[in-house]
Amino acid sequence: MKIVIAKNYRNMSRLAADQVIEQIRNKPSSVLGLPTGHTPVELYHDLVLAYQQEIIRFKKIVTFNLDEYAGLESGDKRSYHTYMKTNLFNKIDIQSKNIHILDGATKNVKRECVRFESEISRAGGIDLLILGIGMDDHIGFNEPGSDFKSRTRLVKLAETTREANSKYFGSLKRTPTAALTVGIGTIMEAKKIILLADGKKKAEAIARAVNGKIDPQVPASILQKHPDCTFILDKGAAAKLKS
Ligand code: F6R
Repeated sequence: MKIVIAKNYRNMSRLAADQVIEQIRNKPSSVLGLPTGHTPVELYHDLVLAYQQEIIRFKKIVTFNLDEYAGLESGDKRSYHTYMKTNLFNKIDIQSKNIHILDGATKNVKRECVRFESEISRAGGIDLLILGIGMDDHIGFNEPGSDFKSRTRLVKLAETTREANSKYFGSLKRTPTAALTVGIGTIMEAKKIILLADGKKKAEAIARAVNGKIDPQVPASILQKHPDCTFILDKGAAAKLKS
């Protein structure tokens, strides 16, 4: 894997945006895999700016989000559907038929997960997948112990993940206990992957993923085996890497 160290969160986001812009310019019908959470907020901001400045268009772009909380309706203000609309989709010219986000409120989880996987295949696979990383090394919501061959499914969230996300729900008690997520097998099939991480609190997770052994207890460690994976980190997240 390739490691790029940016001086701060702002620069990390800018470097990631440059890569996404290049991808879109090279292939205007690219299929993108997208994360939510704190990490990509500025990346999305930069992509919106690039759209407003007519550097890129999203008319032919197809997107697949990595995950959604189980039990949340898409209209819920804390859902990843709402997050994506607020941070990106409502501000660009993407066509709603090209947006794919798992339905966390589905009554038929199995069918929903199979549908998602088959839509990824029908789109020709993911060209560029952006990832964040959890403090426990999760990617998507594939928590430690997830099978490296796993596909889209319902998962239980680790307590550390619930704690990290409880700020969006007001309390730990109100934070969902489960989510629908693409699998590690699904992630590894993306043609190109960029993982973003900022801040010292991610430094241990990054060091385990990059310098540690490939181990299902460290889900992000499997990225060492991906043929085209770049980690774009700020100095804080890179602080514990062996040089
Ligand atoms: C969210 C996702 C997660 C987050 C990770 C980091 O769609 O897939 O893996 O990327 O939990 O979250 P933040 O960026 O909030 O630290």
